[in-house]
Amino acid sequence: MNLNSTLDSGITAPDLIINKFEEEVLQGLTETPKRLQSKFFYDEQGDSLFQQIMACPEYYLTGCELEIFSSRTAELAGNICSSGEPFDLVELGAGDATKSEYLLSYLANTGVDFNYLPIDISGNILHVLQERLERKIPKLSVIPLAGEYFEMLAQTSLRGQRRRVILFLGANIGNMSEEEATSFCETLREHLQPGDLLIIGFDLKKNPRTILNAYDDAAGITAKFNLNLLSRINRELEGDFDLGHFEHYQSYDPETGACKSYLVSLSDQQVSIGGQYVHFAKNETIYMEVSQKYTIAETDRLAERSGFLPVRHFLDSKGWFADICWKAI
Ligand code: AVJ
Repeated sequence: MNLNSTLDSGITAPDLIINKFEEEVLQGLTETPKRLQSKFFYDEQGDSLFQQIMACPEYYLTGCELEIFSSRTAELAGNICSSGEPFDLVELGAGDATKSEYLLSYLANTGVDFNYLPIDISGNILHVLQERLERKIPKLSVIPLAGEYFEMLAQTSLRGQRRRVILFLGANIGNMSEEEATSFCETLREHLQPGDLLIIGFDLKKNPRTILNAYDDAAGITAKFNLNLLSRINRELEGDFDLGHFEHYQSYDPETGACKSYLVSLSDQQVSIGGQYVHFAKNETIYMEVSQKYTIAETDRLAERSGFLPVRHFLDSKGWFADICWKAI
């Protein structure tokens, strides 16, 4: 069968996306140890649970980064448009863009010529975002792109030779191991021209208890957020996970800075996913997510290894979170 007849047989893009989700879920659950990828957390319910996490008293990250973006907006903007040339502002993992909104309205009011291109894996959240921005900053030009970061970033570079400023906020880089973060930053650098800027948010190492509590909130929202991925598999891949038979477990290692979440199987059980069976021993774990924490020195080394020069560090008043401006060299 050639490619054309495959296409003629009616395979559409959504089918391909479902297949990829199913493939990667089954792959991860048949490995030892088992794992699921945190990029799959964000369906409609996952988006809403993550917004509830951001409102939890223990989850300090959002408040710290909001403080940076609301109190140092002019300095951030000054860093971005010192040359006065038009540019494309590309945000990776934009989510609902509550932090960048400060910067966006500031820039829109200065009259500088720029487009805002939010990229997110969740088409759902991009709709929410676009509606809000059209209402709040009518003169802003918004071009939303739903998909994986580098596929979408490659599309933005087809738009011509505009200077680019990349935002990668919210400690999204924390979802990568240190090795993955290095190759991610290297790939990002390959997509940019010398002089292009990156503003990247890192959650910093701090009292380990403060970090652990942020991912193990008293109200149990983080637990729900993790368990929702099992519900999503039930909904979208005809799974039959019994959520009462899994429990959220959080760990933080202050030496490596790795904050990891797991789901623990509470019984010996068999789960069917679209007709395929996966066995869980009692107390077997599924590794769900890492939220990596850094020192400033570690972020400087990451910049250096991947072809960037750190030009400015913006920290919140507690020194818990950093938005760092790197220049591509
Ligand atoms: C969206 C990756 C920044 O790791 O802090 C929050 C996701 N997971 N609570 C983080 C998350 C559990 C969050 N990031």
